[in-house]
Amino acid sequence: MLFGKRNAVGVDIGSNSIKICALDESARGLSLKKFDMAPLPPQAIVEGAVMNFSQVQDKLKELVSVNKLKGRPAALSISGHSVIIKKISLPQMTEQELDASIMWEAEQYIPFDIKEVNVDVQILDPQAGQGQMDVLLVAAKKDVISDYVSIAMDAGLSPAVMDVDTFATQNMFELNYGFPSNETIALINVGASMININIVSNGITQFTRDITMGGALLTEEVQRALNVTYEEAEHYKTGGSENISSSAMFREVQRIAEKVSGTLVTEIQRSVEFFRATSVGEDIARVYLSGGGAQMGPLVRLMESRLQVPTELVNPFKNIVIDTKRFDIALLQKIAPSAGVAVGLALRRSSDK
Ligand SMILES: Nc1ncnc2c1ncn2[C@@H]1O[C@H](COP(=O)(O)OP(=O)(O)OP(=O)(O)O)[C@@H](O)[C@H]1O
Ligand SMILES: [Mg+2]
Repeated sequence: MLFGKRNAVGVDIGSNSIKICALDESARGLSLKKFDMAPLPPQAIVEGAVMNFSQVQDKLKELVSVNKLKGRPAALSISGHSVIIKKISLPQMTEQELDASIMWEAEQYIPFDIKEVNVDVQILDPQAGQGQMDVLLVAAKKDVISDYVSIAMDAGLSPAVMDVDTFATQNMFELNYGFPSNETIALINVGASMININIVSNGITQFTRDITMGGALLTEEVQRALNVTYEEAEHYKTGGSENISSSAMFREVQRIAEKVSGTLVTEIQRSVEFFRATSVGEDIARVYLSGGGAQMGPLVRLMESRLQVPTELVNPFKNIVIDTKRFDIALLQKIAPSAGVAVGLALRRSSDK
């Protein structure tokens, strides 16, 4: 059976690196078939938009060829300013009626020309009270989508699904942890240049926001303070003490990481406080962090103390069987937080939209 099978390759084109993931589904559950990543030069992707086509194309082509993915359907995703996610309230109607009227309804919620976006809707709560229903509206700019699609096609993939980072992270989380009933949690994906916040109650999105900030801020500050290249700064900040010859340098990187983590937490806190002030439900019970930027030393601790909410790092491979003969487990564990979006995308079926 081809339809409904999880045959899509997850392709996460992030600003720091491209990640690819393929899963196999059997009676034993999901197992990892492929996972690989390739770093991108800084500025190849800026705030979710492709700036340097050939750099991104070359890296993806390499990944596709090394991992023998030519011709495979791909699930891609985008995030940032070109995507609008909004929970809106509409008069109760059928799904057909919603599809027919959504372009017209959506117009007032979207800061772009409605002709420039693709719109998708999902009914969250068909009976939200007083004849209304809650609907999740997702609008994404067509030009950004077509950039990602053409890069994937050029690499020999067959783009089948277009997702957004926030919902890919949500699907990855559901697979590995499940959504607790009667509890509100925050899923926060901290990448290199983007932070995707998604506050979920009983598995239903209540609030989302993308912040254009992330781990790249630490790289930049380390570059400046130690007067080193981008590559050196990446190396120092991610490897801990073994990457750094002098202990004075190590302390300096730690000092900067503390400062930058504080900046990121302040921004995240602003969104969380906004949610707390505008929602009527109960408060966030737990924060789950993913993304490579979440590995910044002090981040989990600072989040926990400032938000006063227990915080943990997500393992995207928690419920995925990994063959130790085929994969380097130690390496996978090391980069695991970065894999969240790619794993979430690999869960999609090519028959999805
Ligand atoms: N062990 C580590 N310690 C600190 N930072 C790390 C570590 N590992 C990765 N990072 C940082 O995480 C960031 C990359 O995370 P991720 O792969 O999630 O980003 P991305 O998806 O490429 O970018 P974005 O989605 O923001 O465009 C980089 O800034 C990188 O330096
Ligand atoms: Mg990312």
